[in-house]
Amino acid sequence: MATRSEIAVAIDGPMGSGKSTVAREVARRLGFRYVDTGAMYRAVAVAALRRGVAVDDPDALAAVARALRLELTFGANGATRVAVDGEDVTGELRTVSVNRVVGKVAGAPGVRAVLGGIQRDLGTTGGVVMEGRDIGSVILPRAQVKVFLTASPEARARRRQAELAAAGEQVSLHDVRRIEDEDDRAAMTRHVGPLRIAPDAEVIDSTDLTVDEVVDRILGSVARARGL
Ligand code: DC
Repeated sequence: MATRSEIAVAIDGPMGSGKSTVAREVARRLGFRYVDTGAMYRAVAVAALRRGVAVDDPDALAAVARALRLELTFGANGATRVAVDGEDVTGELRTVSVNRVVGKVAGAPGVRAVLGGIQRDLGTTGGVVMEGRDIGSVILPRAQVKVFLTASPEARARRRQAELAAAGEQVSLHDVRRIEDEDDRAAMTRHVGPLRIAPDAEVIDSTDLTVDEVVDRILGSVARARGL
């Protein structure tokens, strides 16, 4: 039976599955640290763009990841702030230019090795909700609670469109679907860090569930893992 501080919750899923909103809320309700691993890949993308590194060169991307000093600050409200070499780049993580190249950054094996090491360290202490693509399968295979969140393609496209609109980008549903398909295909065919469902993960289809309903189900799994 795991104590509260030993519990790690891994939440994986495709774009638009609602995993960020859910993971943040689960962390808030438990008083756990929320770790957004996508933000780390995005931070490396920001650094690569600034340095003018060719995003088609996986070795050059890995060198950027190895050289940079990545600092994560976990705010009380669940927000993850990311600083690269002492400069806060949180505001740049979700720009169009980063969106365009982050898939290539995340596909570079050397980048995954560097960030994976940091993520494992963050997970060892427990008391953490870590969100990404490969957390339950690769990064924290011993997490006590693993959730793979899915949703219908339509629901995912609608959520993603709303997210982009909130960031000031108006994209048609058709284009969102196209981007989403490309992202999923890339995530599933990358030979490292694929979007993979851990055999012991609980698969939750959020299409017809509210955020609170998904959160409650995960909190129920956490309570069972704690033997409550
Ligand atoms: O979840 P997100 O959109 O912020 O993720 C940004 C990119 O990083 C996206 O291409 C998926 C990828 N990613 C990954 O490969 N592995 C993770 N653990 C998290 C994100």
